[in-house]
Amino acid sequence: GENLMLYDPGYMNTINCTSKISYIDGDKGILEYRGYPIEELAEKSTFLEVAFLLIYGELPTQSQKILWEQRILRHTYLHTDIGKMMQSFHYDAHPMGIVVSTMSAMSTFQAEQNPTLLVGIDPYSDPLVLNKQIHRILGRMPTVAAYAYRHRIGRPYNEPAQGLGYIENFFYMLDRLNETNYAPHPKLVRALDILFILHAEHELNCSTAAMRHLASSEVDVYTCVAGAAAALYGRKHGGANEAVLRMLEEIGSVENIPAFLDKVKIGKGRLMGFGHRVYKNYDPRAKIVKRLADDVFSICGKEPLIDIAVELERIALTDKYFIDRKLYPNVDFYTGVIYKSMGFPTDIFPVLFTIPRVAGWLAHWKEFHTDPENKIVRPRQNYIGYTTRHYIPISDRK
Ligand code: SDX
Repeated sequence: GENLMLYDPGYMNTINCTSKISYIDGDKGILEYRGYPIEELAEKSTFLEVAFLLIYGELPTQSQKILWEQRILRHTYLHTDIGKMMQSFHYDAHPMGIVVSTMSAMSTFQAEQNPTLLVGIDPYSDPLVLNKQIHRILGRMPTVAAYAYRHRIGRPYNEPAQGLGYIENFFYMLDRLNETNYAPHPKLVRALDILFILHAEHELNCSTAAMRHLASSEVDVYTCVAGAAAALYGRKHGGANEAVLRMLEEIGSVENIPAFLDKVKIGKGRLMGFGHRVYKNYDPRAKIVKRLADDVFSICGKEPLIDIAVELERIALTDKYFIDRKLYPNVDFYTGVIYKSMGFPTDIFPVLFTIPRVAGWLAHWKEFHTDPENKIVRPRQNYIGYTTRHYIPISDRK
């Protein structure tokens, strides 16, 4: 018989981590970055300003904001060798796989790119060294994403422009919305800015936990970002916005919704974009995303799948199965429909999640490395296997 150890239900197997960066009240559907409600930041702030808030703990003054943006926008170029490496991926490589690999490849650079390689210095005690790494990652992330997008559509990469804003430069490298003068409509720039604010940080989610895990081993920050992006790639996490689109396309019409939900309720498939480990109420970000849809549709045209999404939400929110399980739309439910209306291919959606989430990951990375009490993350398991037993010669095994 199996003399398994008794399961100890009291065992706590969470990674306990204290942080000052963001606060979620899952029951009330509250999200705050450094104490500021997400609704206010989405309405009044910009992504780069929110990145400063998350990483340094306060909203920047006018002069801090100018310096911050200058330093980040000075680091938008990638080494040409990185561009060549990205060209070597197969034509239909998933853009998230390209992003994860490229962030990891950037860790192989010389010491000045990656001070962890510098012998004899502690790269984490010098704020200048920390800040340089932060500027470089935030500056380069949109370029890596844009190159992955250009690779995906089989077009030459557009080097970053100088003199454009953070979001405008991203649109420029995508060469997307305005083939002539690259000037994306200001409403679209603002919509993407708000989407980036909403996706920037979310407490100890799967990919941020991965970032803190990797940071605690003192591997370099590029490798940390690659590992966090790898966690975000999963369809239960950042890959959900892509999975929502595929689900809406599979449903195909409003008439097919009841049959689809019947399958979900017997465990055959999931309502992607619904449910959350923490929110047992409406994800506050989902409300803001839904409102953004009209702005984007007014410029890029209405994405018909939104009608299926709206009806799906309406029916699910009145259905006992979802009510009993406290399943509500999360940030991914409407995001994909907006990105599709903007013309992005579905497999780019998780990449659009990665760009802003890098700000949150860097905030946690810096918080960890500037905490004098920090220790390597090493959760204990709850062993429920065999108690001690002794080797059996193969001739005696049955
Ligand atoms: C993100 O953590 C974060 O903060 C993540 C994120 C961030 O900003 O970083 O917010 C971003 O990843 C949002 C989540 C995106 N993922 C999806 O939309 C994928 C679909 N959602 C599910 O896979 C699910 O809801 C999870 C993964 C998000 C949570 O899964 P859990 O932990 O299993 O959810 P649960 O414990 O609340 O489930 C309770 C019940 C279970 O059923 P029973 O076993 O009780 O019968 O609800 C069921 C689950 O099976 N359930 C669903 C469901 N989600 C949970 N049933 C149908 N459809 C769903 N989407």
